[in-house]
Amino acid sequence: QSGAITIDPGFKNTGSTKSEITYLDGENGILRYRGYSIEDLAEKSNFLEVTYLLIHGELPTKAQYDEFTGSIQNHTMIHEDMRKILEGFPSNSHPMGVLSSLVCSMTAFYPESLDPNRSWEKVNMSIVRILAKLPTMAAWAYKNEQGHPVNYPDNSLNYTENFLKMMFAVPAEDFEVDPVVADALDKLLILHADHEQNCSASTVRIVGSSHASLYASISAGINALWGPLHGGANQAVIEMLENIKADGGDVEKYIKKAKDKNDPFRLMGFGHRVYKNFDPRAKIIKKAADDVLGRLGINDPVLDIAKKLEEVALKDEYFVEKKLYPNVDFYSGIIYRALGIPTKMFTVMFAMGRLPGWIAQWKEMRENQEPIGRPRQIYTGHNQRDYVDIKKR
Ligand code: SDX
Repeated sequence: QSGAITIDPGFKNTGSTKSEITYLDGENGILRYRGYSIEDLAEKSNFLEVTYLLIHGELPTKAQYDEFTGSIQNHTMIHEDMRKILEGFPSNSHPMGVLSSLVCSMTAFYPESLDPNRSWEKVNMSIVRILAKLPTMAAWAYKNEQGHPVNYPDNSLNYTENFLKMMFAVPAEDFEVDPVVADALDKLLILHADHEQNCSASTVRIVGSSHASLYASISAGINALWGPLHGGANQAVIEMLENIKADGGDVEKYIKKAKDKNDPFRLMGFGHRVYKNFDPRAKIIKKAADDVLGRLGINDPVLDIAKKLEEVALKDEYFVEKKLYPNVDFYSGIIYRALGIPTKMFTVMFAMGRLPGWIAQWKEMRENQEPIGRPRQIYTGHNQRDYVDIKKR
């Protein structure tokens, strides 16, 4: 209303911007990046090509693709002094906290990001650097936690293979990337690449709206994604499924708990602010889980529990009435686990996938010269009152 302020907690009915990047249709379960369906992209494209599409708006020609991947390969190393920051973290540090700190430290190592008059040429340098270095920082965070020596990038490998080698290679043995694993991970990264104005993308936009650097904005996005209601759900889902398995696999008991208003338990990986139908990503990931575990010869009882949970929930009137379906986080952890990725790294994988979406949205917000984000409030505190000296309180 003009003049009056309406409060919309969680912005459930508030649009924050106009965007040309990603299209979501929650009722019909449709997701498109720059007009291309994720079904098409997951099947026919690869993560770096989708990254180019999200950031530049078009699928690259062969020449553009080679130039893009080549520029990223030239920047995959991180400054050796970052190792000192890494070593400052106790070994039980959650890798999401390490990652957001290392990304923020890029403002110190790569000052082009802090130049207030930064040109688009400098911004593009920052974009290439963070795309190139995030996998290295993510793998180093994991190695630091494991107490293992870090691995340097191997530019004879593609983006996803390079990450897997930095994550899993150890000096004592040769390491060959399994193409089934690399292909599955690449597909998962595509499916996580953007999702319009979700919590972490909105965070990146609002931090960037003050003209803070790209690195500072992405670091903020990583922290927003960390929450269990957002990207942290993929870790929470596996922990929940493991608990149900340890508790005898009684899914009905947990469905009942999820419906009980007095019970704080939530069915993690279920429900979504926008999708009131199946999350199209969950459909693809569920199918991929069967395919990948089959090709790797893995039989994971937790997958069976997940399927049973979904089957029972989708027949339960509470979930049907509230339109709670599995979301992107419900099955993704089962594939990450099959790929050998530890649970604490699941949300880091989400961040790696979402990075191009965050970059594309930050760039769009800056190109459109959007104003600084500064909402109002309705004040409900005390009226004016006089100071009372401490002797009289
Ligand atoms: C992601 O926004 C995005 O696009 C996010 C994301 C992306 O790609 O960026 O898709 C990634 O974050 C997926 C969501 C991952 N989170 C989880 O799986 C956590 C569990 N889900 C919920 O916490 C919840 O569904 C949210 C956070 C996803 C959505 O929350 P909303 O839109 O604020 O909805 P709500 O919490 O108000 O729930 C509506 C009702 C409530 O009941 P009432 O108060 O109306 O009686 O549904 C109930 C909730 O209690 N409900 C659930 C439930 N989710 C919602 N009840 C049991 N189990 C659940 N999982």
